[in-house]
Amino acid sequence: MKAIIYVFSGSGNTLKAANLYKEQFEKNQIETTLVRINIDAKPVEDHTQYDYVGIGYPVHGFNASYNVLDFVKLIAKNPEKKDYFVFHTGGEPLHLNDVSDYKLNEIMKRRNFVLTNEYHYAMPYNMIFRHTDARAVQMHEVLEKLAPIEAQEVIDRKPHKYKYHFGGHTMAFLLRIEHPAMKVNGKLFFKIDQEKCIHCGLCVKNCPEHNITMNEDGSFSFGNKCIMCTACSFNCPKDAFNIGMLNGWRVNGKYNIKNPDLTQEDTHPKYCKKAYEVYFQEAEEKIKANTKEE
Ligand SMILES: Cc1cc2nc3c(=O)[nH]c(=O)nc-3n(C[C@H](O)[C@H](O)[C@H](O)COP(=O)(O)O)c2cc1C
Repeated sequence: MKAIIYVFSGSGNTLKAANLYKEQFEKNQIETTLVRINIDAKPVEDHTQYDYVGIGYPVHGFNASYNVLDFVKLIAKNPEKKDYFVFHTGGEPLHLNDVSDYKLNEIMKRRNFVLTNEYHYAMPYNMIFRHTDARAVQMHEVLEKLAPIEAQEVIDRKPHKYKYHFGGHTMAFLLRIEHPAMKVNGKLFFKIDQEKCIHCGLCVKNCPEHNITMNEDGSFSFGNKCIMCTACSFNCPKDAFNIGMLNGWRVNGKYNIKNPDLTQEDTHPKYCKKAYEVYFQEAEEKIKANTKEE
């Protein structure tokens, strides 16, 4: 059996989920190809050879980012109806994030694909505000346990779909203003602090759209293809990025998952409090129900 998983990831969260899915597929002797969505990538021409097709992406403003939608548009129409699954990560566990699948599903439907399974994982924000390391560790630990269980549901063809949100299409449509806005923001308003920058070139290398150029004099130029995925700014070792209009929401620098600072204060203790409680509680129950007694 064969599977193909297309994944987009700016700061690594969704890529981690994709790798966990791949591992679980391979534990079931399903040969799995992982394709990173970037400007150079193309979908395979023929999906009939795959028993499972999946798409993973981070939620951006209750949508999939424009490059994910553009990529999906390149998928050829399947001769017969074919199942596919989606997983997305987001900083908050609100079910409202599920509306981010709507546009993607419309495109996939026109290509004869039928959504059977969808999953959302709360993962540390790479934008908006910084979670504490402790919270980030908790999210990573839940993902590590939950993703294999949910990948197994896909493998076993147990459907898992979220309920429809009335008005979700309109909300997602309105928020897709983000797509052109991020292109303009990335081109005109991104700045690099030359005092901090060590010209390591990591931002240039990490940009999935090849949108950043380091000039001979050490200055930087930005093209008009920014997705605002934060692959550049989040991973900058010197926090040298100013991300323009969204700089107030900047979350630069990796979370310390291996050696968390447990003294950090939660700066947003009330934010989506109930949703996080429900998410972790439901995750714990599902993990328990699926963990065999030793
Ligand atoms: C421009 C932008 C918009 C975002 N919007 C949302 C959102 O609407 N809902 C959400 O839960 N998280 C949102 N996030 C947070 C990311 O989805 C989250 O951190 C995700 O796990 C990042 O995944 P990645 O590391 O694979 O890029 C946003 C992040 C960015 C950069």
